[in-house]
Amino acid sequence: MENEYRPHTLKMSKMTEETPDVYTIEMDSKNEGRAGQFYMLSVPGVGEAPISVASGFGRNLIFTIRDVGSVTSKLKNLQFVGIRGPYGTGWPWKEYDEVIGVAGGIGIPPIRSLLEEMMDSGRQQDLEVMYGARTPSDLVYKKDFGDWTKSINLQITVDRANAEWNGNVGFVPALLRKAHLSRMAAVFVIGPPLMMINTVKEALKLGYREDRIFISLERRMECGIGVCGHCNIGEHYVCESGPIINYSRVRNDKELFL
Ligand SMILES: Cc1cc2nc3c(=O)[nH]c(=O)nc-3n(C[C@H](O)[C@H](O)[C@H](O)COP(=O)(O)OP(=O)(O)OC[C@H]3O[C@@H](n4cnc5c(N)ncnc54)[C@H](O)[C@@H]3O)c2cc1C
Ligand code: FES
Repeated sequence: MENEYRPHTLKMSKMTEETPDVYTIEMDSKNEGRAGQFYMLSVPGVGEAPISVASGFGRNLIFTIRDVGSVTSKLKNLQFVGIRGPYGTGWPWKEYDEVIGVAGGIGIPPIRSLLEEMMDSGRQQDLEVMYGARTPSDLVYKKDFGDWTKSINLQITVDRANAEWNGNVGFVPALLRKAHLSRMAAVFVIGPPLMMINTVKEALKLGYREDRIFISLERRMECGIGVCGHCNIGEHYVCESGPIINYSRVRNDKELFL
């Protein structure tokens, strides 16, 4: 029987520095994961980390990673990356006529994947993307913004501007007011806990339906397949019920945003 924990190895074809602490790696292989799902990436002798797919299904497999520790600091220097997955739930965009993706910080990769999936299905007119970072130099995928704005309403904000920045300044939730799609749109939210809470509150205030709001949960993981119990939030294992989950299923969970 195949060992579910054993990673296979993929060749890395490209590495791009996005910001001082974020980089993108591209594999010489196709993505079999849906937008919102994640893979476990590993560095031999060091460990594994769950990382979301950043590309659309069937395109080259891409990950965008913030260097925060032992695994994420080393992945970019590898020629071959250990990988298993895809795991977890994806964004349920096919169930909705309109979708607004809202990303804060390093939450943007799964929204990039969503954008590519919807574009590949010819549904880019049904998507809007709101994205915020701390400063202009923390924005990831800057080189893609020009192309994206040709297809979708892309709104970007930074918490703190610099001299060159002439775009929106302020927190991401406020960007929801710039959405053109209807209040029946599904709202997909991913980012730091406070950003997600405030975005959900804003969405509800503006009249978006709670049962159409989805968030992405984050917890430390080990097995990634619902066996070890490391990633629970209340009754949910993030690796199985999530990371993408309907907000109404977790809204009363006090652990959720800790
Ligand atoms: C479903 C899922 C998808 C993810 N997708 C991405 C992605 O696309 N890009 C990306 O850059 N990161 C992503 N992450 C976060 C990433 O998995 C962690 O940053 C990574 O596991 C850290 O591993 P490390 O060995 O480099 O850090 P470690 O050396 O283990 O830890 C370094 C520091 O980071 C903290 N830390 C470690 N893991 C987490 C975590 N899960 N949440 C909060 N703090 C943590 C530790 O407490 C410590 O302070 C995702 C996490 C989950 C659960
Ligand atoms: S990581 Fe093991 S149960 Fe989720």
